[in-house]
Amino acid sequence: MIEKTRSTPFPTLELDDTSWIIQLKNSLYADQRTQSGYSEWKKKAAALPVFWPTIGRLSDEIKEVLDKNGGGCVVRGITKGDEDLYLKKWAFLLLMAQIGEPTGHDDNHALVWDVKHRGQVISREVTFSERTGEAPFHTDSAFAAHPEPFFALHAIRAAQCQGGLSRVIEINSLKRQLNSVRDGDVHMSVMEENLFPFRTPGAFSSEEKIVWAPILEGNTIRFRYDSIRRGLVDSMHDNRISTQMIESLEWFNEFVETRAVYEEFRLNDGETMIFDNRRVLHARTDYEDVERHLLRIRVS
Ligand SMILES: [Fe+2]
Repeated sequence: MIEKTRSTPFPTLELDDTSWIIQLKNSLYADQRTQSGYSEWKKKAAALPVFWPTIGRLSDEIKEVLDKNGGGCVVRGITKGDEDLYLKKWAFLLLMAQIGEPTGHDDNHALVWDVKHRGQVISREVTFSERTGEAPFHTDSAFAAHPEPFFALHAIRAAQCQGGLSRVIEINSLKRQLNSVRDGDVHMSVMEENLFPFRTPGAFSSEEKIVWAPILEGNTIRFRYDSIRRGLVDSMHDNRISTQMIESLEWFNEFVETRAVYEEFRLNDGETMIFDNRRVLHARTDYEDVERHLLRIRVS
């Protein structure tokens, strides 16, 4: 593994030993072709670094970079490009299982989530990962009691239309920016000292629930504007809500969407990016290519 020059805001690690995917195919693929077949993944994940030490070393490097760097990293070479989708899912899942414990994305507990335009097939409200278009700045699972500390995206097919770029703002940069603008410190205090109601979007669970949490806490952030807005509507008569909180929420959302300085980059086919979900706000630029396809895994 070689640390390369940065083509993204994050350090890039390259798996130079690409034969692991062939080993994986031979050793693990078996005949499990659906996500329900992942029930055995824990056993397989635990065994992987033993018979394939390269992946153990790569995951140690990833953990070290995430620790040191805080924001995230990009990994190249976990797949070569010509494998089928199921094998790519396995490779991605087994790598991420070395970083933490993969968590379920919805009521069906899918560990690997297809970030892909779903067309008209979904009757409920769709979320950012199920449609084309832009996604505003947010952290993942902001509405969960304990949002996963890390999440990763693996590009199967990047958008061919110049859009679908990733934008990120790391928490230290965000705080510096907030401190340098008028009233930024006041709004920061409001976001630290109050609990905001985050409502779970329908795409993630059919159970309606609200989690109360600060937006900023120490050196971490939890934010998803639409989830808080809906939580506020549902909690209109709750005495924990103040006008100041609503003002700060609107101010902050306007700030990150229109004034904040961010870094922008493209995740190319076969690349994986792993973020610290507590320290990085991320967004996606507009895109129209309905064939764009990423995989997402979150780990606790
Ligand atoms: Fe996200």
